[in-house]
Amino acid sequence: MAHKTSFPKHEIRVLLLEGISASAAQSFRAAGYSQIRLFDKSLPEEQLREELAQAHLVGIRSRTQLTADLLQEARRLISIGCFCIGTSQVDLDAAEDLGIPVFNAPYSNTRSVAELVVAEAIMLLRGIPAKNAQCHKGGWAKSASGSHEARGKTLGIVGYGHIGTQVGVIAEALGMQVIFHDIETKLSLGNARAAANLDELLQRSDVVTLHVPETPATREMIGAPQIAMMKPGAHLINASRGTVVDVDCLADAVRSGHVGGAAVDVFPVEPKGNDDVFQTPLAGLDNVLLTPHIGGSTLEAQDNIGLEVASKLIRYSDNGSTLSAVNFPEVSLPEHTGSTRFLHIHRNVPGVLSRVNDVFSRLGANIDGQFLRTHPKVGYVVIDVSASQTQLDDIRTALMEIPGTLRTRVLY
Ligand code: NAI
Repeated sequence: MAHKTSFPKHEIRVLLLEGISASAAQSFRAAGYSQIRLFDKSLPEEQLREELAQAHLVGIRSRTQLTADLLQEARRLISIGCFCIGTSQVDLDAAEDLGIPVFNAPYSNTRSVAELVVAEAIMLLRGIPAKNAQCHKGGWAKSASGSHEARGKTLGIVGYGHIGTQVGVIAEALGMQVIFHDIETKLSLGNARAAANLDELLQRSDVVTLHVPETPATREMIGAPQIAMMKPGAHLINASRGTVVDVDCLADAVRSGHVGGAAVDVFPVEPKGNDDVFQTPLAGLDNVLLTPHIGGSTLEAQDNIGLEVASKLIRYSDNGSTLSAVNFPEVSLPEHTGSTRFLHIHRNVPGVLSRVNDVFSRLGANIDGQFLRTHPKVGYVVIDVSASQTQLDDIRTALMEIPGTLRTRVLY
């Protein structure tokens, strides 16, 4: 059955869980949404069920599991915002089947990762991790030996995407020579130069930093042969994904001195929570900086995530745009000043679109604009019309009756 979800803004209920940054609630208020329920933590299942039953928009982070069961019962829900990078905590298929677009913030924390990586490059070039460890143990290794400025050194960036490019720009400001390797042809920023291939990058770099996604091709892309190609004494930074580096080989290379030092933020196996024990073959190596997957974890990144996801939810709610939804046909829509906008979400089966169009011609409404995108399972058509209030009411009823309709909304 189609849901009737066309409300004035002050009746739209926003549920924000898990201590989502205040920037999100501020964005909703600034956009005219007043019914906002905030919770610091994830909710126990029963309470979550009750809250979801009332909510039109929900914001979660990684701890709230939105299962097919819960979504089925969330009859008012029109959209979900994951205020984080990952979306595996939501049953995306079930959400799509119900006509619920899901949004996230894949790139809001990239600057935080880039800053940490450049700081780590400086620390490694100066041998600070080992010197820090010695001082803590009562040692005093006052010497310039093995200590280098970053200026003039070569930084090799593997994966020249959102993070890799920012690392390059900041490193160039320090006077580093930047080279990069990517499987796509990338426009270089500043004076960065593409290396001929990964091998050449490894052979030329004083510091190698990894910024690739987790894919079958990146799994252990830095193993024994690649480490052997690195300059003796060069450093390795991994703040991408734990599976990209063979950490046993890296630990051996650090022990042998072939790798001068390393900074590692991500691991093949990471503890599930802060109370679990963390184990890695890199533990106990003084010239290895270990951090608990916090490359992107800053308050600024949380604020940016709050702004980014809230703005996507608001845009969908106000205007119907689904640009960058992770499970849904993407439509970027202009403002609909002077027209009434119908959003029709349906199963992608033959005949629905012609039935939709038939409603408008039968009821004599003037179509100002139409936008359509389909996914294998779901179709999303947006129609802007000029019509009388009686016509608008009739259109809405007729649209909801079309077989295959999942949801209809009207934006006045
Ligand atoms: P992105 O998608 O913007 O860039 C990735 C780049 O890697 C792309 O240019 C792509 O073409 C390239 N690439 C893919 N496969 C490759 C291969 N086999 N060889 C060479 N290049 C390849 O991603 P973004 O935002 O820059 O993130 C990079 C990594 O950082 C991801 O793995 C992400 O999960 C991780 N990350 C880690 C965080 C942390 O807390 N440590 C926080 C945020 C992201």
